[in-house]
Amino acid sequence: MKNNSFNQILQSEISRRTMIGGLLTLPAISMNLTPNNVFGGAISKSLDFVCVPENMNDTISVPEGYEWHKLISWGDPLFEEMEAPKIQRGAPFTFTRAEQEKRFGMCNDMLAIFPKKYQYPWPEVSKDWIFCSNNEYVAPYLMITTKDGELKPTPSEIEALYAAQGVSVYEVRQDGASWSIVKNKLQNKALNRRITPFTEVVFEGAAKNHPWIKAAKVLVNANEAKQGNIPKNKDGILCGTMQNCAGGFTPWGTYLTAEENIDNMFFNANTESEKLKAARAIAGFEFDEDSFGYANRWKFGGPQQFDLAHNPHGPALYGWIVEIDPYDPNWAPRKRTALGRRKSECATCVITKSGQIATYSGDDQVNEFVYKFVSKGKFNPKNRIANRDLLNEGKLYAARFEENGKGHWIELTLAAANAVPRSMFETPFKDNADLLIRAREAARRLGATQMDRPEDVESPVDGTFMGKGSVYIVCTGNQSAEGISGNIANPRRTNGNNAVEKNYTGHIIRINEANLDHAATQFEWEFFLMGGDHSAALANGESADGETRNLSSWKDGVQITTGQRFAMPDNITFDNSGNAFFTTDGTADSFRCNDGVYAVSTTQAAPRKVKRFLTGPIGCEITGPKFSPDNKTFFCGLQHVGDEDAKGNRYRGKEEYPPSKFPNNDWPRDTIIYVTKKDGGII
Ligand code: FEO
Ligand code: CA
Repeated sequence: MKNNSFNQILQSEISRRTMIGGLLTLPAISMNLTPNNVFGGAISKSLDFVCVPENMNDTISVPEGYEWHKLISWGDPLFEEMEAPKIQRGAPFTFTRAEQEKRFGMCNDMLAIFPKKYQYPWPEVSKDWIFCSNNEYVAPYLMITTKDGELKPTPSEIEALYAAQGVSVYEVRQDGASWSIVKNKLQNKALNRRITPFTEVVFEGAAKNHPWIKAAKVLVNANEAKQGNIPKNKDGILCGTMQNCAGGFTPWGTYLTAEENIDNMFFNANTESEKLKAARAIAGFEFDEDSFGYANRWKFGGPQQFDLAHNPHGPALYGWIVEIDPYDPNWAPRKRTALGRRKSECATCVITKSGQIATYSGDDQVNEFVYKFVSKGKFNPKNRIANRDLLNEGKLYAARFEENGKGHWIELTLAAANAVPRSMFETPFKDNADLLIRAREAARRLGATQMDRPEDVESPVDGTFMGKGSVYIVCTGNQSAEGISGNIANPRRTNGNNAVEKNYTGHIIRINEANLDHAATQFEWEFFLMGGDHSAALANGESADGETRNLSSWKDGVQITTGQRFAMPDNITFDNSGNAFFTTDGTADSFRCNDGVYAVSTTQAAPRKVKRFLTGPIGCEITGPKFSPDNKTFFCGLQHVGDEDAKGNRYRGKEEYPPSKFPNNDWPRDTIIYVTKKDGGII
């Protein structure tokens, strides 16, 4: 890009093209708008549906006048001439890594949809689409047949469990209100594909040559070489991606997947390992091990690269934001180390006033932080490939919330992080690579605000991705033993005995960036919603396990939320009219209701009225909410269906059937569904 201002270039690009109704009326260029007046889309829609009642039914419930449909479930083939899975009791098909690499993965989370023909601004209509879904983790008891009442996966089945995670990329055809998967011919480099913990990736950004990554690379590639797999890129590592929760998508049409609970897949086959002892002597390693908790989480063993005794730096390969090009299967996914490492949640991209890219991320663990990355370079709307290095260099920040509704973004620089006085247990960061790989430690030292499981961090944008200043931070809650402490942005309720309680029901914060510019370092913030029961200032409720808790949504005597009660908000998306639709993960811990989807207008003042739009079947959380660009279809994921009963007890196999038979009145399967209006209108 030459020295033209970004807005000039964008303006000429938009004028050059015939726009589909509405986009030109959006405030893509002029940023002088108040936060409550930023959703001037062509479509205005009030939330006039009749709410779904609280229920614990083993199905999807949607309001009168709406209907739901199944799109894809775990195990569905992505290629022609493959059989549909025959799932009876677990072990649905020849359950191998090779087989799972051709079928939709387990535990679907984030969903992004790309027009099959890329253009900028993104079009509102298309017949053909490419979908990218995260497959976050695996629920072994729902995937493998127990033997003599015990779960004893074979080595082949264990590899398949690893391969069921990652990302699924697949073509979808829209025919009016109907959406269906387009299977591809089974050949190398088809557009449909799985990206698993064994796929070749390339590390980019300042941490790409960190010694932990280099050490792990040698072992991963050596272990995969035993199976005949050799990287094609000079810097390729066959570690793929896994534990992919929320995500994002860039204006240039790439998918961003965030690696969350990376601890889940590592084990330690030899507690006396000299290699692991040597690693623990390295500065920062024990903090990392403790912070992520990966000492010995996976109980079934598996490929050697996930054995800490053999590959103690394996976890350094995960926790990143990974960029995938849905249009180009020949381009190896890139791990963008400049965005920092953590239990990464989401990577929401917004274009700043000057044309840089701001990317927001959470870290879904109690007392962790909210992050923002601002690219050094600017988005080139004329050449999508020219944007491939944009996420390699920029400034990384963590959020600090202050009293009086003010806050700022703390830049995580080497000089600042090393200038903070350290305890005898803390070690300085060697260089910028070291800071990025230990980003949590840098945020903590520099005084960022500890949050109650910040998961989704989203900003409403249209097909231009021009930001309008507002950002929503969804905090799922804090139910941990160490979670009793709170702070200004993560309040605690007190119960009838004036005892301080944990944050059982979560909350949503809204920030407004200074000057409505996503490159700003200052912001204002407010509580947008509080989870809980909105009917009283002190609502003592009985949890699923019989405990009496303060489940009120009130805060300091102020009612922030009204309408339907909910608990543990998790993911959030926006329609074209300024309504937020958010999902829950753990409602049944507090209320006798399955997890669901709730809608609220972002333009109303508190107390804001929440409406229950959808509830899911038993045992699942709802994930990946997403509107089609024309807002006539709403998609969401059902993750770990049947993994818990109505009281929150985890399904553990043995001889009994899981508590859910969704979606086929048989063995439960994680599924993406979509909702349409029977009259074909806007959701
Ligand atoms: Fe998909 Fe943060 O759980
Ligand atoms: Ca979640």
